Parts: sequence; structure tokens; C-alpha cells
Amino acid sequence: MFLIIFFTVLLIIIIHYVYNFNKIPKESENIPYVSGLPLMWALIRQKPHDEVEEIMSKTSGDHEIYLVEQTRFGPFKQINFVSPECVKDLLMASEDVAPKIEFHPGSVFYDFFGKGLPFSNGDLWKTYRKLATPAFNSALRTDMIGETTMELFTFMEKNLSGPTDIFILLQRITIEILGKMAFGHQFNCLKSLEIPHMINVYKYIISFVESPLRIIFPFINKLPLESNKKFLAAIKEFDNFIYEIIEKKKDEMNNNKINNKENSNDLLTKMLEYSKQEGINTDNKQLRDEMVNNFVAGHDTTAGALTVSLYYLAKYPEIQERARSEVINILGDKLTIPTSEQLKVSTLEIIP
Ligand code: HEM
Repeated sequence: MFLIIFFTVLLIIIIHYVYNFNKIPKESENIPYVSGLPLMWALIRQKPHDEVEEIMSKTSGDHEIYLVEQTRFGPFKQINFVSPECVKDLLMASEDVAPKIEFHPGSVFYDFFGKGLPFSNGDLWKTYRKLATPAFNSALRTDMIGETTMELFTFMEKNLSGPTDIFILLQRITIEILGKMAFGHQFNCLKSLEIPHMINVYKYIISFVESPLRIIFPFINKLPLESNKKFLAAIKEFDNFIYEIIEKKKDEMNNNKINNKENSNDLLTKMLEYSKQEGINTDNKQLRDEMVNNFVAGHDTTAGALTVSLYYLAKYPEIQERARSEVINILGDKLTIPTSEQLKVSTLEIIP
């Protein structure tokens, strides 16, 4: 009798656990399921952009939004947004409807990203967003971006003679710009073909954090493996590098040494200035998190967007021609750095 009761209770617990584990939130019940395998397979084989796009539109059919079939069972459901309108709704939604993912100590994501703006909600997010918004407006400098673009042209003339991976090339300029823009540091990715040591450390950290094996089996990160020790040592090295910049910047501010455009217009300086003005206490760990997140969020996204833009300009030469004549209309046909006013001018009608 005791055994029957014991196994019945055990069975109820297991059913309850499995049910909750696989439960779909009520709001998502009407979203259709579509297999994510064709897309995944194309990405794994690194298929060209056109093919990936075609597979995506074929598999999603008419659905603007769908749940990925392969995530039907398991704790996480993946919802893919296909139409720009749905993406806009999601990004505009308040954090009560769509809170951002937060990482906790013990995960490799927390080790690197911490609680920066893209991974925080509530009061912490509000406080640092209040500092970051005006800082962004001052740190986005057209002259600095223009000058760095000229450095890219010189780099290309010196070092490129044949076909090249455009994304990797553009990463050099976006890393350079983000270093200057986020914390006033020059990595020197455009000085020579050699990759700066700190960028190699950073790329190693990212490859570790994004390793599919480690995402699926996170317990691997807890094992006493050499690779895990190497990862923690790399994080320490990168952190020391950022903390040194923060300390130096604070020291410069306290001693009124911030006086020229090279060390006064980055996000970090502006955030420190606004925090002083607003009487908001900032701690070094949170500033480190914000700097890391801005650096990561800012450079791969822009390198990707530029790569895709160049790809489409090459694919549609008539559009490239129109874009080129617009530039010549506004800037003339001599190589020149545009002003922020010139960048706002548009003489083209949007093509439907
Ligand atoms: C084409 C370029 C870019 C794309 C496509 C892009 C995309 C996005 C998206 C989709 C989000 C929302 C994520 C979410 O709500 O979970 C986001 C947030 C964010 N991005 Fe970007 N981004 C770009 C450039 C940049 C740059 C240049 C920076 C920094 C200099 C940056 C810093 C951030 C930050 C700090 C957040 C979090 C904002 C917050 O939650 O308050 N991004 N980005």
C-alpha cells in the first residue's frame, strides 16, 4: 500500500514537472509552429545570404510570427518574428510585456556581460539609461567617424590586393570607432594587418560565450577544465583593461585634465559627467558592464549592417548609382568628410 501511494505521488510530481517545463504561455497559444531546421541547417553550412533569405521566407510562409517547432519541448520556446511591424511592436513593448533577459552570477554570460543596459530591467536600467541617453547624443561624432573611415581607406590601399571577407574588414573600423566612442581608447586595428592583443582576448571570450555546445550543456562551464580556467583568465585580463580606463578617466576628471576633444567626448566621460551633475552614484562594476555592452552591441551590429548594405548595393547597381549621385549632389565628387548637417540632407525619394 505504502509503495502504491509513494509511486502515485512520484508520478504526479513528474507529470506536474513535465507539464510546467513544456507549458506554453497563454498569450502564445495561437502562434503557429514552424520547423526551424531548414534555417539552422543553412546557417550551419554558412549558405550565402540570398539562400538563407529564401529559406526563411519559404519556411515561414505567410506567418508574421511563429514558434520554432524544435523548441516545443523544453524550458525555452523560441519565437521568430518575420515582419518588421511585429519586430517594432516587440521592441516598443514595455518591460512588463517583454522584459529583457537578465544573467546571474555563475553563468558565463554574467561573467562577461554582467548587468549592462541590454540585460537589465527596472530601476537599474532606468538609472543607467538616464545617464546613457544624453551621453550617446554627444559621443556620436561625425568627424571622428569620418576620420576613422579615411584610415580604413588607407588601410585598404596598403593591405588589400584581392578578394577579402568584407565583414572581417569592416569589423576593424567598427571596433576602432566603438573603442573611441565608448571609452576613448584607440585599439589601432587600422594601423597594420596584425590584430591587437586585446581584440584577440575579446574575440576568444566571445567565441567561448557563444559556443553552441556550452549553451546547450552549461554544466561544462563548471567543470575543472583547462579551457574554463583560460576563459576566466581572459575575462580578468579584459576587465583589468576596462577598469584601468575607468580609473584613468575618473582621475582625469578629478584633476581637471579633461580638456581636448580626444579625451572628452566618449560615452564613459559623458556618463561620468552626467552622473556628477545629477548626483547619481555610479560604481565601477556597473560602468564596466555598460562599457563592455556598448562595445559589443555597437560594433558587430554596425559591421553586419554595413556588410548587408554593401551586398545589396552590389546586387542592385541601379540603386548603387542613385545612392552615388545623391552623395555627389551633397558632397561633391572629391573625397571629403561630411558634416552632421550634410548627413541629414536627403535628395532621394524612397523607392517603394
Ligand atoms: C545597425 C546597428 C545596430 C543594430 C541593428 C542594433 C540593434 C539593437 C536592438 C535590436 C536592440 C534591442 C535589444 C533588446 O531590447 O533586447 C538594441 C539595444 C541596444 N543597443 Fe543596439 N543596435 C545597433 C547599434 C548599436 C550601437 C552603435 C550601440 C552603441 C554604441 C548600441 C548599443 C545598444 C544598447 C546599449 C542597447 C540596450 C538599450 C536599452 O536596453 O536601453 N547599438 N540594439
